[in-house]
Amino acid sequence: MDAFLFGVVPYLSVAVLLVGLLRRFRAMRYTVTSASSQLLEGRLQYWGSVSWHYAILLVLGVHLAAIFLPGAVTRLLSGPGRLLAVEATGLALGLTALWGLVVLGLRRVPLRGTTGWADWAVLALLLAQVATGVWVASTARWGLAWFPHVATPWLGSLARLAPRVDLVANLPWAFKVHAVNAFVLIALVPYTRLAHVVVAPVEYLWRLPQVVIWRRPRPAAPGGTP
Ligand code: HEM
Repeated sequence: MDAFLFGVVPYLSVAVLLVGLLRRFRAMRYTVTSASSQLLEGRLQYWGSVSWHYAILLVLGVHLAAIFLPGAVTRLLSGPGRLLAVEATGLALGLTALWGLVVLGLRRVPLRGTTGWADWAVLALLLAQVATGVWVASTARWGLAWFPHVATPWLGSLARLAPRVDLVANLPWAFKVHAVNAFVLIALVPYTRLAHVVVAPVEYLWRLPQVVIWRRPRPAAPGGTP
């Protein structure tokens, strides 16, 4: 079972992701949306959305830094003061993301009409992901140290196409669910409203501050060429 979950599922996930991305952006490029219900709601949606997005982006930023810079993480965690500060900040961010997600989920109950089964499934998987992350962070000493000792070597072995299942096989159940569920979420990106994760940075980082499109012949500037 472990061999399948930690040695096969990650590759299946990446394959499903790539096929979905190609299909989505070739054939259905203009259907990518987060299907926002902002117009139907007010403050609750605002606070849920702001808490969720800022907290989870910071948490994922820390994940990436921890995965790609294991030496820096080990040095950062080497003093007890810094270790506590980093873990406390991570936990605060994790709990903020959890709160935001619960708010975003609850406010969908009266909006059942605009919420499909795939939306509920994504919400449930995200909830499981954040809850197991917070669980690992608060019960397994010390959570962030799992990156240089376990996560980075395991992910590295996957990248080298020689999965080291033994690295993760004996870990606590919460870590296992967290790792496998991450790959399930990754696979679902192109097929659900999570697709906006791929599009949003492109749109916001590279778009012009203002786009003016002339639909009629451009009026001449007074007194000469424009
Ligand atoms: C969809 C992708 C992922 C999401 C949304 C996610 C989310 C989270 C969240 C919200 C936390 C709690 C942060 C805290 O309270 O400190 C967390 C912690 C953690 N995650 Fe993830 N995670 C993802 C993928 C992964 C992957 C692929 C791994 C490693 C294989 C991983 C390993 C960990 C570990 C070790 C912790 C504990 C960190 C600590 O104690 O500070 N995560 N994750």
